[in-house]
Amino acid sequence: MPQATVNGRQIAYGDTRGDGVPVLLVHAFPFNSTMWQPQVDALGSRYRLITPDLTGFGGSDAPEDRSAYSMDAWADLLAGLLDELGIDKVVLAGLSMGGYMAFAFLRRHRRRVSALILADTRAEADPPEGVEKRTTQQGLIEREGTSGLIEGMVGALLSESTRTNKLDVVDQARKAMDNPAAGFIGGLEAMKGRPDSSDELASIDVPTLVIVGENDAVTPPDAARKIHEHVGGSRLVTIPEAGHISNLESPEAFNGALAEFLGSL
Ligand code: MLT
Repeated sequence: MPQATVNGRQIAYGDTRGDGVPVLLVHAFPFNSTMWQPQVDALGSRYRLITPDLTGFGGSDAPEDRSAYSMDAWADLLAGLLDELGIDKVVLAGLSMGGYMAFAFLRRHRRRVSALILADTRAEADPPEGVEKRTTQQGLIEREGTSGLIEGMVGALLSESTRTNKLDVVDQARKAMDNPAAGFIGGLEAMKGRPDSSDELASIDVPTLVIVGENDAVTPPDAARKIHEHVGGSRLVTIPEAGHISNLESPEAFNGALAEFLGSL
């Protein structure tokens, strides 16, 4: 995997170097960029898919210092990566935590976003009980490592249908969650601190595709509908039987929605 140095940090990323429009695909928590493999395989030669590992994940630096992690820091990191790659504008796609980051990217680097894909995500900040839960998870990881949380997340993130019928996908998801403990703790810190982006939805003026798994229990269809209702002209696609990681759980439907949207730009 290629590496770049941005703002003093090593960042690992995939780049399919396809001919079409550049698309920056930003992973969920606690995954790394390998969660985008089904999109890279199917669409990587038609589009230039760039799949970074955010700080703390995959092959990127994973500092212990929690203050190194925020949606803003990740947004600046990715803008710096685009500079390194000589890319001015991208289609920005974020799934869940990647979507939270996308709102920060829009606040800080709006000019560079030509279109937006928000998958299995929400605009709201964490409620107080959500922040508390993440703090408990951070303590658990510090004491016991990441394996307990990973097993819990397999159950929470993937739909029952995926867990029963697609064991290869469960395996792939587990592998994409194999990231440093510091990244888990940092990712939770960044999610805890993110602001509410609800009021900014109405000002999004680029073509926007909203995708959600029908059985997403973490950022349910209602959260996607809210984004869709507030972002003028956006499209909403619901992926049947998929849970929260809809791109990995139902790649054909997800890729179809992606290709149709990219083709329309
Ligand atoms: C993610 O999939 O990125 C996270 O599970 C989202 C969250 O915990 O809010």
